[in-house]
Amino acid sequence: MNIEEIKKTGEKYLFQNYGRQNIAFTHGKGCYLYDTEGKEYLDLVAGIAVNALGYAHPDWVKAVTGQVERLVHTSNLYHVKEQAELAERIASISPEGLNRTLFVNSGAEANEGAMKLAVRYTGRKKIISAWNGFHGRTAASLGATGQTKYQNSFEPLISNAFEYYKYGDAESVKSIIDKDTAALLVEPIQGEGGVVTAPKEFFRAVRDICTDNGTMMVVDEVQTGMGRTGKWFGINNFDVIPDMMTLAKALGGGVPIGALVSTDEISKVMTPGSHGTTFGGNPLVCTSGSAVIDIMKRDNIVDKVADIGSRWIKELKSIDSPKISQVRGYGLIIGIEMESPETAVAVQKHCFDNNVLVNVCHGNVVRLIPPLIVGEEEKDRFFSLFTEFIG
Ligand SMILES: Cc1ncc(COP(=O)(O)O)c(C=O)c1O
Repeated sequence: MNIEEIKKTGEKYLFQNYGRQNIAFTHGKGCYLYDTEGKEYLDLVAGIAVNALGYAHPDWVKAVTGQVERLVHTSNLYHVKEQAELAERIASISPEGLNRTLFVNSGAEANEGAMKLAVRYTGRKKIISAWNGFHGRTAASLGATGQTKYQNSFEPLISNAFEYYKYGDAESVKSIIDKDTAALLVEPIQGEGGVVTAPKEFFRAVRDICTDNGTMMVVDEVQTGMGRTGKWFGINNFDVIPDMMTLAKALGGGVPIGALVSTDEISKVMTPGSHGTTFGGNPLVCTSGSAVIDIMKRDNIVDKVADIGSRWIKELKSIDSPKISQVRGYGLIIGIEMESPETAVAVQKHCFDNNVLVNVCHGNVVRLIPPLIVGEEEKDRFFSLFTEFIG
């Protein structure tokens, strides 16, 4: 099918709940995607921070195809070797004490699990999260997503368990947390919210406030996890150990997987029958996840992200232009806040017209979340296009 045929069939048979760009891809290799016309695109979006190893990484493909041939799914009625192997690997890279994993199928579902676990463990009723945050679109995750634009018209599904604090403001957290607060959710960087960062002191204060109140500190690493910020997890940048961490996106290298990670003690309350999912942690997705971690460790990808990302951010910050309001980020999650939404869209268009994919989020922010294997060539190509646009 060519792009017009794909669009026509999709318009007839698919829900029209996405605003899609006028392109479809047939395959990818490394940091490059190929469309239905055979045109090559440099991809600095990576399937929204998913394709950490880029496309068709040979070692990942070998591991995954081998697993497809052997066994894809059996359910959680039985023991699953690949689950145990991936959970052991996650424990090897997680903050101290976070050594137990429950596998699910997406980021939203990982956050649902975290909230259920916190409520069951503490016996409390209230959940607090940040204004402008994003935790997913399922009912409780949507409740935790402090942005009315996502909640509008779905209010009947949102529980009154939720209250919101100002991101980066410890006083605001103190003003709403109490002895009935089961969990505090926080992103190390608000990705969907426009790559918004908060100071180290904020995360440290939040840790102390949660401890003082007996509240579970839940760090949503769905977008910032798996090396994206130049550390295995975004929270590692602040030397804080949370009670729970949620993962998805890059964990599977492209297959749908989510994970809730917590401690021996907290995880104990999820007794048989208390929570679960049919697909969660099947052999296919877990082998994919193990391959991602093994390849990232072997090739020292996290340190490389820290290096290239810090230079990328530094160079962007050095551009003096009224068109740029601010440059934010860590590692390879970079937000360039433009003077207006129109300018951000114009940057995206200029890149697209020159076969480079970038993403605009939260109105006026050009977000760069490339595969974690990008090199100098890709960085230089974006820079020359961006500086050409800036003039
Ligand atoms: C921080 C964060 N949490 C949760 C989610 C939801 O993940 P999913 O789309 O896999 O449900 C996202 C998705 O963008 C995210 O960025």
